[in-house]
Amino acid sequence: MELEHKSSPSAGAVRPRRLRRTAALRRMVQETRLSPDDFIYPLFIRHGHDLQLPIRSMPGQSQWSVDRVTEEARSAYRLGIPAVLLFGIPESKDACGSDNYDPNGIIPTAIRAIKDAVPEMIVISDMCFCEYTDHGHCGIINQPGEAHYNPRLPEGYLLNDPTLELLARASVVHAEAGADMIAPSGMLDGMVRAIRTGLDAHSLDHVMVLSYAAKYASGFYGPFREAAESPPQFGDRSEYQMNSANQREALKEVALDVAEGADMIMVKPALPYLDVVSAVRQAHNLPVAAYQVSGEYAMLHAAAANGWLDLRRCALETLTSIKRAGADLIVTYFAKEAAQWLAE
Ligand code: PBG
Repeated sequence: MELEHKSSPSAGAVRPRRLRRTAALRRMVQETRLSPDDFIYPLFIRHGHDLQLPIRSMPGQSQWSVDRVTEEARSAYRLGIPAVLLFGIPESKDACGSDNYDPNGIIPTAIRAIKDAVPEMIVISDMCFCEYTDHGHCGIINQPGEAHYNPRLPEGYLLNDPTLELLARASVVHAEAGADMIAPSGMLDGMVRAIRTGLDAHSLDHVMVLSYAAKYASGFYGPFREAAESPPQFGDRSEYQMNSANQREALKEVALDVAEGADMIMVKPALPYLDVVSAVRQAHNLPVAAYQVSGEYAMLHAAAANGWLDLRRCALETLTSIKRAGADLIVTYFAKEAAQWLAE
């Protein structure tokens, strides 16, 4: 039988695999590309001298003293990472987190040191009180005997408006120390407007606000609470952070923060909330950031340490997915490593 000139039964079939046959082809048609420009590198800064204390649950990450963190910021900048996000662990904590608005507190001191050492680095200050309060909540708590005690509200309730005043005050202090961007992460109502108004009243209108607009009450913050020494001493954060089951509510929160003057908006955590990243991207034109949080990082490391996952491959895959979903910027503990991998 003569088969040679017979066309195959699937002649004319659509064959997407043609575009995947060689590495060069795959590179040519790749839709999403990661770059160190996309990364924001979080840093934990503590009091003390000449310290780099490894964080057990976040392999490769450390708490740094101010004198050591400048070198870490410089090495990140050399790898092409444009921004750092600072978290502070103060020497002492109190009911209203006063170290956060002390001009000589841990973060204002670190901001000055980093800006001095690496002036081009964009310094973002995480603006929240949970690392600074002795009760570990993100602001002032309703307690008898406290200046703002309100007997009509439940005891232990996070007081919104008195906290806003402190957020504005601390933001001005951080901005005066040289912060380029303030990133309120406490999910209080009106936090963006309060901070914007405070900054503008002090002629700090060039300082940007990156709002953690859609921040979920998440189990994935576990390792961070060890890193920042900030677990809540009672209850949890579900009275102010969002229910992980809600997407429409995220769009409402983001819309409010945009209306209040946010320059950028953030979704947090990242990987379990890619639908939210995508929806926010479609609804707004501001830069959108996503935070690949401590638990997302720890999970990949734990699996890799067991030999169950390839760290590099899976880390880059998750980062690419976050960008593909619509994030312009990714806050990630992988920032330095990923920048190195991308350069290889
Ligand atoms: C402070 C804050 C938290 C994180 C960033 N800012 C902890 C929390 O809300 O409990 C978590 C970051 C991470 O897990 O990597 N409000």
